[in-house]
Amino acid sequence: MTPPRRQPARRRTATYATVPLAVAALLGAAGPTAPGTTGAPGAGDPYFPLSGNGGYDVRHYDLTLGYDTGSRRLDGTAVLTARATQNLTRFDLDLKGLTVTAVTVDRTKADFRRDGQELVVTPRHALRRGREFRVTVAYHGTPKPVTDPDGSPDGWIPTDDGAFVAGEPQGAMTWFPANSHPRDKASYDFTITVPKGRTAVANGVLLGESTAHGRTTFRWRETQPMAAYLATATIGKFQVERYTTRGGLRVFNAVDAREARAAAPVLKKLPSVLEWESRLFGPYPFRAAGSVVDHAPGVGYALETQTRPLYSSAPDLDTLVHESAHQWFGDSVSLTAWKDIWLNEGFATYAEWLYAEQHGGPSAQKTFDALYARPASDALWAYPPGDPGSGKHLFGTPVYARGAMALHELRRAVGDRDFVRILRAWATGHRGGHGTTAQFVRLAEKESGKQLKGLFHTWLYTQGKPNSP
Ligand code: ARG
Ligand code: ZN
Repeated sequence: MTPPRRQPARRRTATYATVPLAVAALLGAAGPTAPGTTGAPGAGDPYFPLSGNGGYDVRHYDLTLGYDTGSRRLDGTAVLTARATQNLTRFDLDLKGLTVTAVTVDRTKADFRRDGQELVVTPRHALRRGREFRVTVAYHGTPKPVTDPDGSPDGWIPTDDGAFVAGEPQGAMTWFPANSHPRDKASYDFTITVPKGRTAVANGVLLGESTAHGRTTFRWRETQPMAAYLATATIGKFQVERYTTRGGLRVFNAVDAREARAAAPVLKKLPSVLEWESRLFGPYPFRAAGSVVDHAPGVGYALETQTRPLYSSAPDLDTLVHESAHQWFGDSVSLTAWKDIWLNEGFATYAEWLYAEQHGGPSAQKTFDALYARPASDALWAYPPGDPGSGKHLFGTPVYARGAMALHELRRAVGDRDFVRILRAWATGHRGGHGTTAQFVRLAEKESGKQLKGLFHTWLYTQGKPNSP
């Protein structure tokens, strides 16, 4: 499920032999087969040019995984159901490391080769535009995380009792072949087999669990469209808690015993946090909820894995509120380009401010003022949140804090009622899909009847500390 592009992504007229390789990659002019029929090796995102691919759109991933926590070997079979968005003689999947043993397209053996993080697949027969097809990839090996431009580990991160599996922005490719860009969302089935005594936690609803010959298989299903970076298959020795909320949400919490005492009082608040957010942002977008609290020192971040946020240690309440807010902003309403990351992080951060304000903490204005008091030399003002410049700056203070400040300024300009209407209209109108900054600005103007381009220009796009608010 891919949103329409505003511009044609590839210009076939490019004489690619004369343009630099990276540019050729972006244009999708990549290869010796008939022009116009090979899928681009990237989704066209300048921050991560090789993330995602062109030429097809994935509808569903069916992942069957076996992980041996002792040897750290992963055995995988991925079945992708996709639709060709152009005539395709060849297409790429993102997969880094691991050994691929076989690829089939519609049950017919396909040629494949590896090229860095690209798995290049040539089906026996070209695929016609609009045609649905099924790719099966059999693979195995020892997954290794990638290091993101900001220095964080990303992907399949082994722990002492399993693996902490996160994927933002590019780590999905370390454990399954994917169209790994949030532009392409799909539903997922997971069948994960681990040694008995370990729990494998993925997204959505647990369909079943069975043990045989010392191994336990967990089957998970996420029916709502999900970006690859939000998929998880976190494995560990976990204490499991399951319940259904008054509102009918199915909650599954998995907690490492070493984090259990600190996590308990925070996890207890999950239903009330989700209820509070639902009142503010509109209905919770998914059917399942929960948390995975792992003990993964060295990871240093949490991730809003869809339906079930992932924490590398016991979260505090702010972090739970933040990752929960991402279920609306980031997970349900997804990015079309990483440059728009403030739509995720600024919103989730502002949810923390609002939660504090309404639960006996400082007002959002007070939080804003304390930040605004920081001198022009502070890292907060190092780059504008609407244009972080590169993948290195995706998760920096300007994106989170100044992004939230931009929303606070919007709130002050339009008033509380319209502000909440804008947030709800955003979450509801783009539910299960995508949104861009330009669309958000247009929506805010429409809902409030005010001219807001200047405000957003100042807070999202101006270099340095904006003049007094
Ligand atoms: N989206 C996560 C959060 O703010 C942060 C992910 C950080 N990832 C990274 N590779 N640095 O909740
Ligand atoms: Zn966040």
